[in-house]
Amino acid sequence: MTVPFIDFREQYLAIKDKVDSGLAGVFERGAFILGQEEKDFERDFAAYCNVKYGSGVNSGTDALYLALSALDIKPGDEVILPSFTFIATALCVSYVGAKPVFVDVDETTYNMNPERFQAAITPRTKAVIVVHLYGQSADMTEIAAIARQHHIKIVEDAAQAHGATYQGEKIGSLGDVACFSFYPTKSLGAFGDGGMVVTDDEKIHEGVQMLRDYGRKGRYEHVIKGHNSRLDTVQAVVLNAKLPLLDSWNEQRRNVAAHYAEFLQGVNGLVIPAVRADRTHVYQTYALRIKKNRDKIVEEMKNKGIGVLIHYPIPIHLQEAYAECGYKRGDLPVSEKLAEEVLSLPMFPHMKKDQVGYVAAALKALI
Ligand SMILES: Cc1ncc(COP(=O)(O)O)c(C=O)c1O
Repeated sequence: MTVPFIDFREQYLAIKDKVDSGLAGVFERGAFILGQEEKDFERDFAAYCNVKYGSGVNSGTDALYLALSALDIKPGDEVILPSFTFIATALCVSYVGAKPVFVDVDETTYNMNPERFQAAITPRTKAVIVVHLYGQSADMTEIAAIARQHHIKIVEDAAQAHGATYQGEKIGSLGDVACFSFYPTKSLGAFGDGGMVVTDDEKIHEGVQMLRDYGRKGRYEHVIKGHNSRLDTVQAVVLNAKLPLLDSWNEQRRNVAAHYAEFLQGVNGLVIPAVRADRTHVYQTYALRIKKNRDKIVEEMKNKGIGVLIHYPIPIHLQEAYAECGYKRGDLPVSEKLAEEVLSLPMFPHMKKDQVGYVAAALKALI
């Protein structure tokens, strides 16, 4: 047996008819940019997140960039974020000319450690970017209390957590503004790049609406130097077809995770993901920890035809791109340890129990 890291086929078959007819409609009407399907998706995805406004953009990276721009984060400002995340969480801070301040994460949830956040605050701190890594919410109560006390804006990087909940509330509604990615491998993935900024704040919404569309007010009246970053109508057709299925696909992901837990719980040398009681995990990524020889095990798993990946092998504070910040090994010990231990196993909604069993047995044997 071979098991791919992700198999999109059954998801595609579930939406094929809707996508085929939806695309034909877009092609016939020729409404490719900010067409009706795009507006429908903004409305429905914002409602799904339980917030008022949504702006479809090019990518999750642009969603973060435009959100920080709309918050008026600029050179001289500091933005606090976890180091153990995808590089885009930091790139957006650099794009607006602010200084990224990296903090360590919690060893069991992989998410930002609120105490580390508090300790990193300075008079220049203007925003915190909270990442809900792999599909589980960060500790929002603690983080929001600290942020409020210091008048710091909260940006949720929800690129990996579509549909996850925290104390019964939807991810995307827990900060000042939230940013999603619809990159194909995400739980809600387009057939190309895409992203969205959602918020309850009218001013932020209006800012993002302008920023994503050349900074225009009327057709050729430009009030700010904006960008070209809009979600294609064609991608919105795909996302409209997928959105009604997201909750059931997330449930299927949780079932796959439960099967992994059944096979792998208690195996020496391995730590399976921990889920806090007050939140639902959506397992965009199923990342566990291997205490020894992780890299060798990755190679062997690949040799057996099992798709595995490492999210992420180098924490951002040690990336060459951020050498200018002057961090060194040992500065953020939990992030550095996780980077050496995490391993992402195959995870997709339609993964069969025998596939999970095969992956788990191979992993156990190697350990
Ligand atoms: C945590 C996180 N933030 C931001 C992004 C950027 O999203 P995109 O690839 O759509 O630019 C991603 C995904 O790639 C991500 O995983």
